[in-house]
This record gives sequence, C-alpha cells and structure tokens, in this order.
Amino acid sequence: MIKTENLTYQYPDGTKALKNVSVDGDRGNCIALIGENGAGKSTLMSALIGLIKPSEGGVFFKGEPLSYKKKDLYAFRKYIGLVIQESDKQVFYSGIYDDIAFALRNLGMDADEIDNRVKAAMKDTGITDIAERPVHYLSYGQKKRVAMAGVLAMKPGIILMDEPTLGLDPKSKAGVKNIIREALENGIKIILSSHDMDFIYEFCDYTYVLHHGQVLCEGETTLVFKNKEALETASLEEATMTRLERSLGIKGFRSIAALEAAVENQRKEVLANETGSSRN
Ligand SMILES: Nc1ncnc2c1ncn2[C@@H]1O[C@H](COP(=O)(O)OP(=O)(O)OP(=O)(O)O)[C@@H](O)[C@H]1O
Ligand SMILES: [Mg+2]
Repeated sequence: MIKTENLTYQYPDGTKALKNVSVDGDRGNCIALIGENGAGKSTLMSALIGLIKPSEGGVFFKGEPLSYKKKDLYAFRKYIGLVIQESDKQVFYSGIYDDIAFALRNLGMDADEIDNRVKAAMKDTGITDIAERPVHYLSYGQKKRVAMAGVLAMKPGIILMDEPTLGLDPKSKAGVKNIIREALENGIKIILSSHDMDFIYEFCDYTYVLHHGQVLCEGETTLVFKNKEALETASLEEATMTRLERSLGIKGFRSIAALEAAVENQRKEVLANETGSSRN
C-alpha cells in the first residue's frame, strides 16, 4: 500500500539524511526500521507520511506517486497516522478529549461518531481514568498514550510509530505493546522504529536496517537478526532470543514470555505424567 522508491532526502542545511532508500510496506504486517542514532529512521517516517518531500525518488501510495497538494495530503492522512518520537510535540490541546478529537473535528465528523471514537481510543490506550486531567500535567508516558489515542481514533490503515517504547517504565511499555498487539489484530499495519531489539523481535515480521541514510539490509526479522555483520555495522545489539538460540540452541521463541510459557507447559505436562504413572 505504501512504499518508497530510491528516496533521497537532503535537509535544507545540506545533510543528506536518506540516500536511495526503497522500503515496501507490503513486506509485513509489522515492519521495523532499525539503525544507529542518525541513521535516518525518523526522516524516513516523515517522508512516508508526506511531511517532507523527497529530493529524489518518491513515495508511492496504492501504486500512485504521493501528491503533495494540501487537499490530497489531507485525504492521505486519513489512511496513515504517525506517532512521533517526542510526544510533547504531538499532544498540544489543553484537554485530553479535545486533543484526541482534534483531527476528527477537522474532518467535520458527526459529534456522536467523534464521541464514540474518542472514548474507544481512550479505553484502548488505558487513559480513561485520566481523561479530566489537563494535558500539561501529564507525564511523558501518559502523553505518549494520548498521542496514540489521537492516531487510533482516526482508524487509519497504517500507523507509523517512532520509538514507541522509548523512555517508558515496564508497565507503560506493556501498555504500549498491548496497543500495538490490538492494532495488529484489527488489521492495522504498523511501521515502527526502535532501538529495543527484544521488542522488535517479538512484534515485527519484517525489518529494514538503516545505516548512514541507506538500507544496509532487509528481510524477515528472524533472519536479519541473525546477520551479525549487519547488526555490528549498524551498532545494534543482539536480541535476547537470538542470543539464546546461538548460545543454548533454544529456537522458535519470539520473546522471553513465550519461552517461559512453553517451559511452564512442559513442566505441567511432566507433573501430570508423573501423577498419572504413580496412580497406575
Ligand atoms: N532538521 C534537520 N536539519 C538537518 N539535519 C537533520 C534534521 N533532522 C535530522 N537531521 C539529520 O539527518 C540525519 C538522520 O536523522 P534522523 O533523525 O532521521 O535519525 P534517526 O535514525 O531517527 O536517529 P535516532 O535514533 O537518534 O532517532 C542525522 O544526521 C540528523 O542529524
Ligand atoms: Mg529518530
């Protein structure tokens, strides 16, 4: 549905942040953009949502080159939402409800529909109990959820998330993971950037490694994460599960939680068998 072809982007000061980047949103349901600081991940997200216009190459939506006319971008952004790295800059209304409703009101949506969508998005992001709090009192993690609620309320087909778990405590991180899980279950495509390799390994089926503004390598996450040379070049850590596969031969698990659940099940089976055989 969304892709870039040989996209090059140069900032006005001359920094070439992206060079000949081709990424295809149809490669997976949850796609990761990974790479060291300054690799070009956030710039690529800005290009994908049409906030910046490529210097060369292009962005394509449903097979057509993206149109940068105000009216066309407006229509495009009903299908694609972005949760930016700095939630402070995304959440700007003084009330949470109004902030989430902002884009829907701009679309001239019916008040009842807006109310339903805002309340559902608040519920999905777990912010219903802080709904009355002024936005400027919210913590970083709470603002992140409000930003996500604003994007979810639009019911887009694609959500771009730039560093969605950065700076979150374990509980908030689990909350964000649930939001992503649910979005994926509802058929929303997610393209995310993160330095959290375990998080990516758990959620993303396809991964692009960016390095100095170029695609260094791409492929199924399970394969890319085994590409030691690429990870080292891009200053990326090994994920816990690929390390366990390499060091202990434990294969086929995408997270510690999945491994723990399997071990627990096995333990229960052994116990049940022992109890059964001692009865016989
Ligand atoms: N507004 C700007 N003007 C000039 N150069 C910029 C601007 N924004 C970003 N850059 C440069 O573009 C390059 C890519 O930056 P970008 O923010 O896309 O990287 P990133 O992969 O998102 O990094 P991080 O992991 O730190 O978020 C960097 O060299 C950065 O310094
Ligand atoms: Mg970034």
